[in-house]
Amino acid sequence: MIRVRNLSKKFRQNVVLDDINLDINQGDVIAVIGPSGTGKSTLLRCIERLEVPESGTVEIEDRVIGLAPGKARRKDLSLLHRSCGMVFQNWNLFYKKTALENVMEGMVTVKKIPKAKAREIALSYLDKVGLSDRAGHYPRHLSGGQQQRVAIARAMAMEPGLLLFDEPTSALDPELVGEVLDTIRQAADAGYTMILVSHEMNFVRKVANRVIFLENGHIIEDGTPKEIFSNPKSERLRQFIMKIDRLQEPDYVI
Ligand SMILES: Nc1ncnc2c1ncn2[C@@H]1O[C@H](COP(=O)(O)OP(=O)(O)OP(=O)(O)O)[C@@H](O)[C@H]1O
Ligand SMILES: [Mg+2]
Repeated sequence: MIRVRNLSKKFRQNVVLDDINLDINQGDVIAVIGPSGTGKSTLLRCIERLEVPESGTVEIEDRVIGLAPGKARRKDLSLLHRSCGMVFQNWNLFYKKTALENVMEGMVTVKKIPKAKAREIALSYLDKVGLSDRAGHYPRHLSGGQQQRVAIARAMAMEPGLLLFDEPTSALDPELVGEVLDTIRQAADAGYTMILVSHEMNFVRKVANRVIFLENGHIIEDGTPKEIFSNPKSERLRQFIMKIDRLQEPDYVI
């Protein structure tokens, strides 16, 4: 289990995360939903400490990792970075490296795996995301969906205890969304523990075992997709879901 405790983050006067506590069980696929600007990306970024919060800890393997300034020890942060793999909206591949080299990079530099072995592992992960025939391609010769699948292979190849996805499909052309969602679904089926920020609500309903509704710095609700979407307890979540459901109405469906 990974525990997030007392996580608070503000930007100047803007309190974005207010004492967040979250227990992530092995194999959990947690979707984070909530209005724009509510702190979903900030939550993911603080968990991996790409953003430095005012307070908070992450507990992994019985180690309590301080996230606040002055509380984080270098050795602990190294464990944190090895334990978490982030997939960004814009995939962030090295454009001067091939797909294979992108997947190998972290294994060689962070995990110190010998190159030949890293290459073998990288190829197996490219195969898992259906891109073994693109190993030698540079990002500019790959579609957005393919680049995102390389980014997912790169994150999975590090064998992180926790995969973090921040709107992995929102920068893609609609026709490419499905292939990336399929890849994420395969990772979920393979038992990866993950937190996913996504506006693909149908996907969230099918793939997540837990959904968290975040608003005004708080986790307002935390439940199964059925509980969250079919039986929201709070007025705010009810309103949020009504807004989403409107997009499924005939007026908006092509
Ligand atoms: N680097 C930053 N400096 C100042 N304010 C920031 C910074 N990053 C985020 N914020 C603010 O923090 C709040 C939460 O932002 P965040 O990006 O986490 O929201 P979000 O829920 O991911 O939104 P969206 O659904 O639009 O991606 C917003 O009000 C945003 O303006
Ligand atoms: Mg965001």
